[in-house]
Amino acid sequence: MIAEHNAPLDVSKQFQLYHQRVNQTLHTFITDESAAHSHLIQAMRYAALSGGKRLRPWLVYTTGQMFGVSLDNLDIPATAVECIHAYSLIHDDLPAMDNDDLRRGQPSCHVKFGEACAILAGDALQTLAFSILAAGPMPDVAIVDRLLMITELAAASGATGMCGGQALDLAAAGSLITLESLEHIHRCKTGALIQSAVSMGALAAGDQGRAVLPLLMHYAAAVGLAFQVQDDILDVTGDSSKTGKRQGADQKMGKNTYPALLGIDGARKKVRELIADTSVILENLAAHSYDTQALWALACFVIERDN
Ligand code: IPE
Ligand code: IPE
Ligand code: MG
Ligand code: MG
Ligand code: MG
Repeated sequence: MIAEHNAPLDVSKQFQLYHQRVNQTLHTFITDESAAHSHLIQAMRYAALSGGKRLRPWLVYTTGQMFGVSLDNLDIPATAVECIHAYSLIHDDLPAMDNDDLRRGQPSCHVKFGEACAILAGDALQTLAFSILAAGPMPDVAIVDRLLMITELAAASGATGMCGGQALDLAAAGSLITLESLEHIHRCKTGALIQSAVSMGALAAGDQGRAVLPLLMHYAAAVGLAFQVQDDILDVTGDSSKTGKRQGADQKMGKNTYPALLGIDGARKKVRELIADTSVILENLAAHSYDTQALWALACFVIERDN
């Protein structure tokens, strides 16, 4: 059923360009000028710049570019969402949370810099996201759309989004929850931020983006959930040298995951179904004369990824 959409011949060059641009922008904003705060800045740079797939920035760029928005207008939302993501990973690995010592194939931020510095690096990355979204260059984006981006990113990061999902994820560890509850957790802890990336890419296009936002949000919700289910699968089946994370961490913590509730085959089926859903949604979007090939390539990446 997925084959109905043919994956584009080569979007990898585009993704490479997006990757470079977001890295460059992160470098620019996480400066090392203040000697007094250098340890903190180093921890921020370590968490934000040492590896990572940059899926969320890719989604911002890909969505915006589908509407013809120039890259200059997308660097800021792409970087802002990656700052929130980097902060979320620092805190997720802390002893009080998932207690993981390996991230992106290297010691977790708190292992390398100490817990206090890691917590503060996460806090500072979070505030950086909003300061660049409020004041960073987006030459053609209307103020109202910039404000909407801030609103979207804040809601996706907070108590009804990522933080809320993380709290539920931790509270449920050690007990068995329903599939419905697990889906809600995954949609909050991971899906919300992924949706905000697509939403910000669309908002950069103003009225044109807003007109098809509901369709795009359906796409992003399916990709977001599929992404976390695949993450759960890789926690069981993945190769640590590729994922850069300790295998079996979820089971060790008694986490509720799709493989734990549905088995590996059931979890894989769920990812396939979600990606098939995106195919239908993208066909609807293509009916509005948009080229959805790159968004389709991103959905395919979620299912094919091994890291
Ligand atoms: C890991 O996210 C945490 C989840 C939300 C599943 P990524 O798999 O996108 O992490 P990086 O940025 O590529 O390291
Ligand atoms: C984390 O989910 C989601 C976040 C908000 C960071 P996981 O705890 O499964 O992510 P990994 O596997 O540690 O990257
Ligand atoms: Mg976690
Ligand atoms: Mg974790
Ligand atoms: Mg995981």
